[in-house]
Amino acid sequence: MKIGKNALTVLEKRYLVKDENGKNIETVEGMFERVAGAVAQADLHYNSQGDIEATKKKFYDMMTNLEFLPNSPTLMNAGKELGQLSACFVLPVGDSMEEIFEAIKQAALIHKSGGGTGFSFSRLRASGSTVRTTGGVASGPVSFMRVFNMATEAVKQGGTRRGANMGILRIDHPDVLDFIDCKKNNADITNFNISVGITEEFMHAVENHQPYTLIDPKNKEVVGELDAREVFNKIVESAWRNGEPGIIFLDRLNRDNVVPSQGEIESTNPCGEQPLLPYESCNLGSINLVNMLAKKNGKYQLDYKKLENTVKSAVHFLDNVIEVNKYPLEQIDFTTKQTRKIGLGVMGWADMLLYMGIPYDSDEAVELAEKVMDFITEKGRKESMALAKERGSFPLFSESIFASGEPLRNATITTIAPTGTLSIIAGCSSGVEPVFAYVFIRNVMDGTEMIEVNPVLREILEERGLYTDELMKKIAKEGSLAHISEIPEDIRRVFVCSHDVSPLYHVKMQAAFQRHTDNAVSKTVNFTHDATVEEVEEVYMLAYKLDCKGVTIYRDGSRDSQVLNIGSVK
Ligand code: CDP
Repeated sequence: MKIGKNALTVLEKRYLVKDENGKNIETVEGMFERVAGAVAQADLHYNSQGDIEATKKKFYDMMTNLEFLPNSPTLMNAGKELGQLSACFVLPVGDSMEEIFEAIKQAALIHKSGGGTGFSFSRLRASGSTVRTTGGVASGPVSFMRVFNMATEAVKQGGTRRGANMGILRIDHPDVLDFIDCKKNNADITNFNISVGITEEFMHAVENHQPYTLIDPKNKEVVGELDAREVFNKIVESAWRNGEPGIIFLDRLNRDNVVPSQGEIESTNPCGEQPLLPYESCNLGSINLVNMLAKKNGKYQLDYKKLENTVKSAVHFLDNVIEVNKYPLEQIDFTTKQTRKIGLGVMGWADMLLYMGIPYDSDEAVELAEKVMDFITEKGRKESMALAKERGSFPLFSESIFASGEPLRNATITTIAPTGTLSIIAGCSSGVEPVFAYVFIRNVMDGTEMIEVNPVLREILEERGLYTDELMKKIAKEGSLAHISEIPEDIRRVFVCSHDVSPLYHVKMQAAFQRHTDNAVSKTVNFTHDATVEEVEEVYMLAYKLDCKGVTIYRDGSRDSQVLNIGSVK
């Protein structure tokens, strides 16, 4: 199979099976065979005569062709003793010492198995309120978050990745101002992403410059009020300063809660794309859109037939994962199987647009996003209906919003994940993000420079006889192609990078995918360093107006250590 150098490095370091001495004893093909074999086994639960070998081959082919990849824990753990295959979990945090420390213990077990956890801290009483049994005062949600953070620090995820958490606090919690500031210092609470849980009521108050009330989570009494505009500005300023907090629109998560009988959705997974009920888990998988293209008359087009077939196999795969998964807790096993949520999404979106010659920041791209995602959700749902015929609907189907329609095997089908590592393995752009930079220069230890060029750019420049190392170095230094006169205008218009795309188009693209995605969309609106607070505010407002489920921004250079850098070293 074709696998890139970076992909191989990542796989060798963290995914392939090792012996006791840390030596790799698995090949890349061997890994996919292990995963395909373990996941295919679930077919036997429904059809003892099932052709497991055919299913295994179908799964193996789609992974080794880099058409579809399941989330990292599935690649790492399937067919192994650990066997925990999900990336996303949400745990409840109750307002008692027992419940708080129970949640910490549960999170530790999940992190150990490679999963990430989301929590709402909104049920915890405010700092300064009384503790009945001791007569003392409560320390409040933020101080407990620090304990969760330290526990995470101590437990590396299965020895392979660092624990990731989402922390959410409702906008009407009395400690909300403390929460907004809790990551002001870049060295604080580093194992958490934080988001303020925003209500429609609050947004109306912001728009009308009105005060809104703070509610004591314990007795539901009003305990104060704040100016909505001022709090909103504080959130925006803080996000401008170092990217946090993000916001999530709680009422929208619950508007799309497909089984309202099970209570409220109060949190998402760590990167925000998967809202879940307490104790639910979800396994994700992503289709590489670059490998869904076909060349016709010299032009690249999306092969919808191939996409449909891949969606079908992917839904089959993800439903199987729910069966063969070894859950970290009994309660998670039970709750997950009640709704059988899966999260199928895409990666390589920006690369696909490059091949098709469509600029990311164009209405054509936004329209295509709607069309492609609508197609995936519709075909995915059709496959879930077909599975329901054979395997039965998800147990809470009759209590779901779908109850009057055709039975479904899975309560949700689609989610757009960040695909942080999956996109490295597949060698494509991540999720639905624009390309961050087209050329990187890697400084190797002996002082030599290695140039890494986006494969689509390389192809087109070589085709036109424009490729030189000198030009690549220039692009790497500038970060963008926008002002490189040696590159023809038609190429520059299409090969836009993240910072060339206006924040408006970042949000428009997120909203377009969101309209056709059951769960949510992972997307970071990237700003250049000189962006203003007002521009950040505009984006937060736009995400609200365009019906996104939340928004996250990042201003270049606003944290000492950031994942992606323009310039010399990646
Ligand atoms: O590409 P990969 O499957 O490794 O993960 P992703 O798409 O970047 O992230 C998907 C989800 O995995 C995140 O939203 C988290 O829930 C979880 N995750 C985690 O728990 N720890 C990490 N270090 C990265 C991701």
